[in-house]
Amino acid sequence: MIRSNRVTRTLVAAAAVCTFATSACAQTSTNSSDYKPEVGQAGKDVIWVPTPSELVDRMLRMAKVTPNDFVMDLGSGDGRTVIAAAKNFKARAMGIEYNPDMVALSQKNAEREAVTTDRARFVKADLFETDFSQASVITMYLLPSINLKLRDKILALKPGTRVVSHAFDMGDWKADETATVEGRNAYLWIVPARAAGTWRVDAGNSSFDVAIAQTYQQIEGSASSGGRASKLEKAALVGDQISFVSGGRAYAGRIAGDKIEGTASGAKFTATKIK
Ligand SMILES: C[S@@+](CC[C@H](N)C(=O)[O-])C[C@H]1O[C@@H](n2cnc3c(N)ncnc32)[C@H](O)[C@@H]1O
Repeated sequence: MIRSNRVTRTLVAAAAVCTFATSACAQTSTNSSDYKPEVGQAGKDVIWVPTPSELVDRMLRMAKVTPNDFVMDLGSGDGRTVIAAAKNFKARAMGIEYNPDMVALSQKNAEREAVTTDRARFVKADLFETDFSQASVITMYLLPSINLKLRDKILALKPGTRVVSHAFDMGDWKADETATVEGRNAYLWIVPARAAGTWRVDAGNSSFDVAIAQTYQQIEGSASSGGRASKLEKAALVGDQISFVSGGRAYAGRIAGDKIEGTASGAKFTATKIK
């Protein structure tokens, strides 16, 4: 724990140095084939400190990575997370890294692990200028301030996208899951669909309105029909999956834009957002 806190403080302190002395953090290639990175070396917005392999594995398992996933590591360092996602989880993976030497090193590391370029790719780019909307899983080990800067962009991603961060959280967007490996924390978020608003539910022989208030993935609401309102019970939102209990019936459905389709006690229901 003590070591982990020290690393965290080092990352935050180094970020301040990079903010005020950008030339020290400029990234030019050494063109050296025997390039050896040093833990704590400058990066554009964050220094390089690698995530221990055990935690990389735990983060990818927290995100439930499968061969159907496209994993993007923002600030990919020596490529270890991308390589693990491709090699151990058979996902497609891409690393975004500003330092060209680290990109070249990642490519060499991937080759050494016999991971092909169709599974693991590394791109020299600034994570702030990168479109990561195609990712189904995002991994990162950045800084609290960077996580907050990225938060709106992440919240606009496809519902269900999983985001895992080593060490740093996302302010008042509470994690869906936290894990600790040898004193280091990892956080998982699942991007929630937009559930807030008033929905008109059509459940065959009954129709009623459901008003939902949403704070990130937390939802609460009430159902109203014929001037009578009652609080939803067990209201939950996981990605695009919404569920609640109303009038003794359990509703579970999938949000797709302004529509919900699902089942209520075995029968089909639909809902349309009306406000
Ligand atoms: C703390 S390290 C994490 C490395 C790797 N993700 C891991 O967990 O092992 C952060 C990495 O982000 C890179 N980086 C810093 N600012 C960046 C930026 N604006 N765009 C892309 N990469 C950046 C650094 O060069 C460094 O390799």
